[in-house]
Amino acid sequence: MDGDGRSEPGGQEEAPLLPLPPGEGGEAGARVMTTLAVENVDLHYGAAIALRKVSVTAETGQVTCIMGRNGVGKTSLLRAITGAHPVSAGRITWDGTDITRLPTYARANRGIAWVPQGRDIFPLLTVRENLETGFAVLPRGKRRVDDEILELFPILKTMLRRRGGDLSGGQQQQLAIARALVMHPRLLVLDEPTEGIQPSIIKDIGRVISLLRARGGMAILLVEQYYDFARELADSIVVMDRGDVVLSGPAGTLDEAEVRRWLSV
Ligand SMILES: Nc1ncnc2c1ncn2[C@@H]1O[C@H](COP(=O)(O)OP(=O)(O)OP(=O)(O)O)[C@@H](O)[C@H]1O
Ligand SMILES: [Mg+2]
Repeated sequence: MDGDGRSEPGGQEEAPLLPLPPGEGGEAGARVMTTLAVENVDLHYGAAIALRKVSVTAETGQVTCIMGRNGVGKTSLLRAITGAHPVSAGRITWDGTDITRLPTYARANRGIAWVPQGRDIFPLLTVRENLETGFAVLPRGKRRVDDEILELFPILKTMLRRRGGDLSGGQQQQLAIARALVMHPRLLVLDEPTEGIQPSIIKDIGRVISLLRARGGMAILLVEQYYDFARELADSIVVMDRGDVVLSGPAGTLDEAEVRRWLSV
């Protein structure tokens, strides 16, 4: 509990593990809702500014892709959203609630799950134990790893007793996504899930993201530098440069050459 009387995301009995598609009990996927709004956010590391008046929205049932070269502030934006680093100005609302000053665990309790850049798998814990670290935000009765998650990542099912550190980079990335899904998120934030991953696993990860999108009920915020991957998945694209948003809009409306220019080094 986060101490303010709100119930946890998985709190109702018999709630589905992943949000159901419209018509099967899911409601949010049936319409587009602005669930996350980042408004005019500044973020500093000491005296250095990493985000300057950044505004971004993410809708339930959609993939919003944040793009930009190395060091432009993509991860900093995710830190602002998850609460991993305080913002120095601006406002973040989620589901109509101002979460700007809430600690990370309170945001996680509200259904915000983060798949960090570099994955942060616990190398000495088994795959199952890594998945179970996602239990922290769930009420006792909901603390299980549902088959549905393992079906999304069949490779993990065969490796539950292996140590996280023994997995390949691609397998660790799948584990990091699965661990986030254990939390029953309604906002899934992924930081460069294709970074350093072999093409076959990139395809698998892309399939999982589009499946989660199709089911509705979840807003997906995807940080990516790999344009071809982003273009396949994104409903809208936000391009950043040096702490600013320089281009944004529905994916189909942006000029591909211009987006690629912002990404080239
Ligand atoms: N913990 C930190 N302390 C100080 N400066 C930081 C810290 N983290 C990031 N920075 C700086 O803030 C700026 C934005 O970094 P950030 O990690 O958000 O970029 P990014 O777009 O995620 O880059 P990449 O694509 O390489 O992951 C960079 O100049 C970086 O050096
Ligand atoms: Mg980054």
